[in-house]
Formats: sequence, structure tokens, C-alpha cells
Amino acid sequence: MKQTELQALLADMSLEEKIGQMVQLTGDFLGQEGIVTGPEGRIVVTPEQARLTGSILGVSGADKLRAIQEQVLAGQPHHIPMLFMLDVINGFKTIFPIPLAQGASFEPELAKRGAQIAAAEASAAGVHLTFAPMLDLVRDARWGRVMESPGEDPFLVGAFAEAMTKGFQGDKLSDKGKMAACLKHFAGYGYPEGGRDYDNVELSERTFRDAFLPGYRKAVEAGVAMAMTSFNTINRVPSSANRWLMRDVLRGEMGFDGVLISDYDAVGELVSHGIAADDREAAKLAILAGVDIDMMSPCYLNHLQELVESGEVEERLIDEAVMRILKLKNDLGLFENPFKDADEAEASRLILCDSFRREAREAAAKTFVLLKNEDAILPLSAAADETVLLSGPYCTERRICGAWSFPDTYDNIPNVLERVAEGLSGSALKAEYAPGCSVTLRGSILKDKPEEGMTHEETEKAIREAAEKAAGAGKVILFLGERFYQTGEGSSRTELSLPGMQMDLLRAVSSVNPNVITVVFSGRPLVMTEIEQLSKAVLMVWMPGTEGAGAIADVLLGKREPEGRLSMSLPFAAGQEPLYYNRFRSGRPRFSSEDIKGYKVGYIDIDYWPHHPFGYGLGYTEFTCSPVKLSADTLEAGGSITASVTVKNTGKRAGSETVQLYLRDAAGSVVRPVRELKGFTKVRLQPGECREVAFTITEEMLRFTRLDMRFASEPGDFEVFIGHDSLTENKAVFRLQA
Ligand code: GLC
Repeated sequence: MKQTELQALLADMSLEEKIGQMVQLTGDFLGQEGIVTGPEGRIVVTPEQARLTGSILGVSGADKLRAIQEQVLAGQPHHIPMLFMLDVINGFKTIFPIPLAQGASFEPELAKRGAQIAAAEASAAGVHLTFAPMLDLVRDARWGRVMESPGEDPFLVGAFAEAMTKGFQGDKLSDKGKMAACLKHFAGYGYPEGGRDYDNVELSERTFRDAFLPGYRKAVEAGVAMAMTSFNTINRVPSSANRWLMRDVLRGEMGFDGVLISDYDAVGELVSHGIAADDREAAKLAILAGVDIDMMSPCYLNHLQELVESGEVEERLIDEAVMRILKLKNDLGLFENPFKDADEAEASRLILCDSFRREAREAAAKTFVLLKNEDAILPLSAAADETVLLSGPYCTERRICGAWSFPDTYDNIPNVLERVAEGLSGSALKAEYAPGCSVTLRGSILKDKPEEGMTHEETEKAIREAAEKAAGAGKVILFLGERFYQTGEGSSRTELSLPGMQMDLLRAVSSVNPNVITVVFSGRPLVMTEIEQLSKAVLMVWMPGTEGAGAIADVLLGKREPEGRLSMSLPFAAGQEPLYYNRFRSGRPRFSSEDIKGYKVGYIDIDYWPHHPFGYGLGYTEFTCSPVKLSADTLEAGGSITASVTVKNTGKRAGSETVQLYLRDAAGSVVRPVRELKGFTKVRLQPGECREVAFTITEEMLRFTRLDMRFASEPGDFEVFIGHDSLTENKAVFRLQA
């Protein structure tokens, strides 16, 4: 449709029709079961209201959605097609690693490809829009939704924001295999007090602007079609009622002109927050803040029409919202083809096809972070004539895709035993298996099915059996982890430990065999201190997706290298959270672990530093990095300088190194982070091979929210760090001229 036709359509719609477009319901209100991702039972919908609804969430399936669309087109007075939206976070049916793992790849292209595959599968299944990418900067591993974020650094989150948005949307939303994307959760949801989901967020405006907003901004710059309000408050105002945040910052400063949808019942929750007396006032606050679609709350549904008719809300605001919604439907080509790509045959051809599985497997290996590898015990040598004992609950666990994935069945997700056995076939290595323990004990208080898991007695027996086998094995590989739903929405934890009796298993086998390799499945950073003490190698595999087990086998056997670098700092204790590398110095800073305790920032009972820092990860070879070279020691405004190092593979195997560039502003009109990631690049080198890695530094990279609240740089000295992780001391200094 042309813009003039859209305007004519809008002008011809009744107020009731327009408001129908601003309401989103779950599929059950239209008689279709789907995925429910929030509280139920708050809404009663009349058949007329259901008939006029503009979008639904949680339903997929080509034939199912074609049938709904036919029903909607027939029932809509102006035959306006319905929008079908779904959470396609790290894959539709071919599931990629969780976004926190994808961030650890430091390879945005990997995330772009994952989004393209997800869009191909989901659009063939009739879905038009995904509630992704989630771009909340995260700093507190106690928060369950860290698994959905690319991590703790603004530059990294921004790189993945752009990649994922372009991966889902392509060049044109109406193109086959593309779907609209939705940046979420705007804004600052990733930093609730205590890591408690939905809790208050207290941030200075400067930190909010300099650390938490850049990721969302990159998605806007990439043309993201939709934005979602967050559940939290910013400056004591919940996002769905926050005019400053939505109209001044998102639309005014960032230039976002897409559709703004609330999170699930977030408009209704304005009453619980205590800033709306009732649903009617909540509806008024939300429309004044600029919320276009009210997801699953009764507020717009029951009160917006009367607010307009009473003159309390100008119809102009309704028209602006509905025009944005109609434009989104038009950009998707739905007026010309209301079914877009919905095609059962195409969906069954694409979903979980071999080539997508292969790509998911390659991607997963790039997200794994090798935390320790004493005596180069990994990779296993296929020629070694020895027995390897495989043990632990994740040998057979198939639920390894993360909390925001909805496979039709887990039966087609290979488990570790299957893939490692496959990998070992034909080698001299012999694999033995002992269950060892379950993730949690039967009857645990977790959301487990009570019948799941071993009893305490059964576990003690299984651990004894595993220890007996371990005594006679050459090596032991333990596959341990959190439950996949111990991260995700509403899954904050006060402990960052392995549940159940998994540590008992590790203690038992390591007491009879020193050659223990521990593989950890988790949606968040965990406390790994004792795990590392008792293991010669530790591999963090996060929640690796449909082909994660295959990737683990490839990495253990050396067919692929673990390329991941931590996208979130790893703590020594939960008490260190929130924990992030780009912190501020304080008046009594710590510069090294040698610093004395007392009278200095830090703790008396545990080290001040992370157990492993942001950007850290080992590979299967070693690299050196030469001192930083600068093309000049002063930077003129409008100019640039080049910072470079020479990286050399000094090991015996080819391998990849993620070279990271950090900058530090020595002094500013406000305190400045100890350093900030401003560039990264992955190089793959053969043994003995050298390569120069160069970064261009511009004045723009030095800008921040100053004392005068302007976003600009300030002249002075800057340190340039280039190295392997966020603690590198390989540095040089330059001066920004006035
Ligand atoms: C949930 C989540 C949000 C998701 C939405 C729709 O409450 O907060 O991330 O996209 O509801 O499922």
C-alpha cells in the first residue's frame, strides 16, 4: 500500500477499530493454543474485541496461522491483516547457543547468521515478528535473564544488536525468510537491585546513558522495526509510563520511529507499581508515554475508547500509534500478502535441516570458554589407548537450549553420550559411562517434575560406582550444570552454584583420579573456584543449543577449538555481584592482587578481582602480543591515530585469538571507567604465523556524558590497552588535543 492509501484507511476506521489494533492477546483468545509467557486470567475479551484485535503472540505453525488470518480478514471491517509475534530468541526450532554464549564468541557475524536461520524457519511457520534481540546490558549474574543478553559491555552488546537486527530483518521486511525484530527491554531492565527480576533499577543518568543505552541505540540505527518497554522503573518511573524515556530519549534522541509495544501486562502493572490508581489511569499514562500496543493487559482494551471520548486523551495520539502499526504491517507486505511466508512444506523443508544443524554446531564451539587446561590435557588424543570415563547428569540431558527455546520435542536434540561416542568411534580411546548423579535430587524445590532425579541414597550409590570406574580410567570427563530454567525470566538466584550433589560427584572422582575434565552447562556465570581446583580442565559451554553436544565432542577431540571469551565476568563468590570490568577506580583503587587489603576498595574475605575477567578464555595454542605501537602520540580533533600490535601463534596448533582494544580516559570532568572495550578482532593463525592487528582510534570513541551533561570528549591523556582480555597491561599513551 502507498502512504496515501494507509492514511485513507486510517481515516475510514472507527475509534473501536483503531483501538483494536493497539491490543495484543495470546492465541487462546482466538481459539488457538500457544506459548504463554506471562500471568493469565486478568483479561476477559468479548467476541467483538477479539474480532478487532490487531496482533497475537505465542502462536506458530503455517496452517494454524493461515487459518487465523483468514478468520481475521473476514471479520475485520477493513480486512486489516493480523500480526503474528513470537519469542524467537536464539532460534526457532534449530536452536543456537543462548545470546550470552553468542556474545562470548566475539563474532557478531555468528549471531547474524543465527538470526537469519531463525527468521527463515519462523517466517515459513507463519511468524512475522520476533521479540528479539534482547539488549539489556547485564552486570549481575544473580539475575536469571543474563542468559538472554550479549553481555556486560556496551560496545559488545552494540555489535550484537546490529548483527541480530540485520540478521532477522534483512534489507526488506517483506522479503521471503525475513521477519521484523524488536529491541528489548527498553530500558535498563538488566540491572535490578540484588539481581531480583522486576525489581527497582537505580542508575545515574550518566551511567544509564553511557553504559546501558548504547546497545539499544545500535539496534535503532540498524533499523529495528519495534521496541518493547521494560518492566522496571527508571528514575522511579516504570518504563511503560515513562514519557522522558519513550518520547524524549527513544524517539527524540535516538530517532526511533517504529512501533512501541509494552511487555506482557506491563501497562496493567503500573497499578502494582503504585503510579496508576486503576487500569483506566494506567491506560492513560501508557498512551501519553507513547506505548502503541498494549500486550496482554485489559487497559487499552477496556478504557482507551472512553478516555478518548471523554476528551482526556486526544484521538491524535491514537492515530499516530495506529499509523505506526499499519506501516509495520505494510512494510511486511501483509496488505498484499496477508500470509507472507507461511508454508507448511517450506517449513518442514527448512526446520532442523542438516545444513542449519551443521551451522548451529560450528557456532556453538565458538562460544565455549576454556577456563583452564592444565598440562594441555585437552584436546584428547585420539591415538591414546586409554579409557575415558564420562559421567554426570549432562551426559544424557537433552534440554540444553536455554529457557527461551521451545523445541517441539527434545528427542531430536542429540546428547553428549551420543555425540562423544560417535566422535570416539574409530579412535583408540574407549569411553565408559557412569551416571554419577542427577542435576537435582528427586523432590527438589526447583521447578523440576518431583519424580525427576535420583534420591539422596541413589545418588550416594551412583557416586560410589562412578568413583570406582574413575579409579581405573585414564581420564574422567564430568558433564555438570544448572537446570536450563535456572536462568531465564523469573529465575534469579542468590547462589551461583551447581544444584544437587554434583560437587560431591566431582570431589569423589577427583579424589581417585587427577585427570578430571569438567564441562559446565549454565545460562549464567557460576562460582567455579572449587571446580577449577579439582579439575585439570574446565570448559564453560553455557546452553549450547540443538547441536551443542556435537560441538562439545568436536572440541574435546580437537576437531574444533573453543574460541569463546567471557562476555560476563566470572566471580569468586555471589557476594561479589554485581561484577563488571568497566568499573570506576574509587579514591582508594586496587591495581593488582598484590595490593594490601584494608583501607582499599574491596573485601577482606575474598579477592577483589573476578575469578576470570571479561574477555578471558584459553584456546588450544598460545599467542604472544607485541607492545602497543601508536602512529602518533597526539590525536587532533577530527583526526585519527592507529594502534597496532603483532600477534604470533607460538604454539603447535592453528588457532584463533580475539584481540581486544580498550581505552582509558586518565581524567575527566566526572569519574571514568578503568577501561572500556572499543574494538575487537579475531585472527586465525597457523603455528609460528605472525599478523599485525591494527585499530583506528578517533575522537568520537572518546566521548561520554560529561559534567555538563553533553555527550562529548575532553582533551587530555588516554591509555590504549591491546591484549587478550580486559586485564591486559599491554599499553601505550596518547593525548587528545583541545
Ligand atoms: C515476557 C518477557 C518478554 C517477552 C514477552 C512476550 O514477559 O519479559 O521478554 O518477549 O513476555 O513473551
